Amino acid sequence: MRNIYIETYGCQMNMADSEIVASILKQEGYDLVDDLNKADIVLINTCSIRENAEQRVIKRISELDSLRKKRQWLKIGVLGCMAERMQDSLIKTHNVDLVVGPDSYRDIPWLLSFQGEGCGGLISTELSETETYSEIYPEKINSNGVTAFIPIMRGCENFCSYCVVPYTRGRERSRDFKTIVSEAEKLFAQGYREVTLLGQNVNSYLWNQGEKDEVNFAKLISLVAEINPLLRVRFSTSHPKDISQELLDTMATYDNVCKFIHLPLQSGSDRILHLMNRKYTAGEYLDKINKIKETIKDCGISTDIISGFCTENLEDHGLTLNIMRQVGYDSAFMFKYSERPNTLAAKKYEDDVSDEEKTRRLEEIINLQRELSFQSNKKDIGKTFEVLIEGESKRSTEKLFGRNSQNKVILFDKKDLRLGQYVNVKVNDCTSATLFGETVS
Ligand code: SAH
Ligand code: SF4
Ligand code: F3S
Repeated sequence: MRNIYIETYGCQMNMADSEIVASILKQEGYDLVDDLNKADIVLINTCSIRENAEQRVIKRISELDSLRKKRQWLKIGVLGCMAERMQDSLIKTHNVDLVVGPDSYRDIPWLLSFQGEGCGGLISTELSETETYSEIYPEKINSNGVTAFIPIMRGCENFCSYCVVPYTRGRERSRDFKTIVSEAEKLFAQGYREVTLLGQNVNSYLWNQGEKDEVNFAKLISLVAEINPLLRVRFSTSHPKDISQELLDTMATYDNVCKFIHLPLQSGSDRILHLMNRKYTAGEYLDKINKIKETIKDCGISTDIISGFCTENLEDHGLTLNIMRQVGYDSAFMFKYSERPNTLAAKKYEDDVSDEEKTRRLEEIINLQRELSFQSNKKDIGKTFEVLIEGESKRSTEKLFGRNSQNKVILFDKKDLRLGQYVNVKVNDCTSATLFGETVS
């Protein structure tokens, strides 16, 4: 009864958390299996960011529940943001055995020890102001052996009015920089060649404020970059209000800090940004973009955009499209606004843009971004990039793919190349989503 299968939904932080959970369980003698059919316990690490993310998981839970007609011993556990948000309703309404929030993963072995004793569903969802799982070295799941995530902080206290994360992840706290650096060193020694430092707002990373060994985010990046020039460093996510000139200067200094910034805009309208509690104006956002372009040569820039937030009108929507054109994003994640229970927006504003209109605006945003991505990719034709090889193409076993520093995916012939190698690739063709090229010496 000790075979565990972990399924992960949601953001990169959840991927990293699943590896922490795997590590905790392995240490207690549980076996991780990569086949649901071999599992005695299924843990689903979940996301609450939009309603459809939750609906997907609810559907999955009922599929797993019906599996129990044949395998009565199967236990189902829900971890992550839905566990925190929905609490014991997951036990009462959805028949799950275990509910564990993002700061309680160390309790899982203890909770599992009660399973099978007829005590019903078990729950642990207390949020912590200090837990960072600092010393736990993750047990990799579905890893390519080349790229890895390292959580550097947890929680968020920005309280963007639409967002559930501050409620599901709790107070912001930074992880000891020494454990971050040693995790990156160990990954490099194991053959990994790229680490992505993760947090909801990495620019507010701060260890030991006011002390002699204070480390801010720019300093942390430089410490990780100095481990080895062959280790690439990325990070996500930056809040536009907090990204600093010091960070941009550090990015420009180290060749192995990737020239790519994900800077979520959300809306191009000052009125909507204010209602969203984003704490910057469109003008201030554009100033940051200009600083990036001035400081870092050829920096890739991507963003997140929400269509149809409360009271958004066609003028606001037009301002979003304008700013997208002005910045010329290389890529973007684009979403329809989804009201989340108990958030500031749910309490204060009416979700008054119809679903049909949200979809229409979203399609306009997506179409524009497709055009911008295509333009950006066309500019790369003829250029040569250093690419870190990450895997085989899904479409052809004869092709490999990797990314350049700017985070663009490039496909090229396999030849006798291996994952984890750096190659120079000259781009000769593109779509809006992918670059195609050939390796050159
Ligand atoms: N901490 C990160 C991102 C968190 S969630 C940041 O601040 O950038 C990722 C993205 O999901 C957000 O940037 C936002 O665009 C989107 N999102 C968050 N809440 C949402 C909601 N209620 N409806 C639609 N999209 C949402
Ligand atoms: Fe949510 Fe805003 Fe925090 Fe990002 S910064 S996680 S959008 S509250
Ligand atoms: Fe989703 Fe929680 Fe991440 S809500 S986006 S899994 S922090």
